[in-house]
Amino acid sequence: MKILVTGGTGYIGSHTCVELLDAGYEIVVIDNLSNSKIEVVDKIKEITGKDFKFYEGDCCDKNILVKIFNENDIDAVIHFAGFKAVGESVLKPLKYYRNNLDSTITLLEVMNEFNCKKIAFSSSATVYGKPETLPIKEDFPLSTTNPYGTTKLMIEDILRDLYVSDNEWSIAILRYFNPIGAHKSGLIGENPNDIPNNLMPYIVKVATKELECLSVFGNDYDTKDGTGVRDYIHVVDLAKGHIKAIEKVLKDTGVDAYNLGTGNGYSVLEIVNTFMKVNNIDVNYKITDRRPGDIDACYADPSYAKEKLNWEANLGINEMCEDAYNFVKNFKEDK
Ligand code: WQD
Repeated sequence: MKILVTGGTGYIGSHTCVELLDAGYEIVVIDNLSNSKIEVVDKIKEITGKDFKFYEGDCCDKNILVKIFNENDIDAVIHFAGFKAVGESVLKPLKYYRNNLDSTITLLEVMNEFNCKKIAFSSSATVYGKPETLPIKEDFPLSTTNPYGTTKLMIEDILRDLYVSDNEWSIAILRYFNPIGAHKSGLIGENPNDIPNNLMPYIVKVATKELECLSVFGNDYDTKDGTGVRDYIHVVDLAKGHIKAIEKVLKDTGVDAYNLGTGNGYSVLEIVNTFMKVNNIDVNYKITDRRPGDIDACYADPSYAKEKLNWEANLGINEMCEDAYNFVKNFKEDK
């Protein structure tokens, strides 16, 4: 079976490529390298000992997608490619609507032309907005508070409409909670070039003294210690969820959404303290004002993914914190 992975050199995409190859799938990767590095291609090959074709290109470019489908018998697609910075999406909404929607519609049109109607889509828990109750189930109301999240919800609606128009489609919508950590090898992981928006990459940069101090955005939330609570999931567990989703889309038809989370909520301070303990390192932090748009708490009810995909997360926050730091230490040693 040959799977096309769009955005396959990105953080979650690269970890999913490793798990696909380890599971015996053939893969083809397309990435425009706008938020990742070409070196990741060789790292994936090094980890797995497997070869695969890489196409540098943009999913908004119909010509390269047609070339890929002409040159490869693609059985299914995992679609990661897209911009994902919440803050940037507020400042540059047209960039996000153009890129995330155009790339997806172009991909779906080409898939249709080549009669490839099986796709797993990278969505996000952000489509739940501020949930009324917790844990979050897949049938909760959907609403978004920023253009990035709105592109994810719009694409979900496009996929649901596509299935209504043609029941031959097989679509898995995967709603990620908060992926952190890295592959045990330390060869791939999350290492944004600029100042990170997300918690774990910021903690790591403070631990390595690249940044001076972590701002903990508010300690007056209605949570166990007042700081924000999220469902952190090891990126390898998340990647394995994609293998289960691909198995399902290859077997069935239909469209459905699945929460890929652990079902456990951890606060910012719990993550910071765990990181310091397991890595035996200090992380300098201070409490500051809330970040606009943040919600108090968000964590999944992962039981539907367990029931329908036979998938559940196994790794805990100790491994997430150890592996996140191990990657950056390894990455720096490479320099
Ligand atoms: C986690 C917690 C912050 C940074 C976002 C997107 C979501 C998904 C995951 C793409 C919150 C606190 C953070 C910092 C902090 N991305 N924090 N200091 O906001 O839950 O989700 O990333 O799909 O769509 O919305 O993740 O890591 O930014 O924040 O105190 O420097 O850490 O307030 O409580 P978030 P995050």
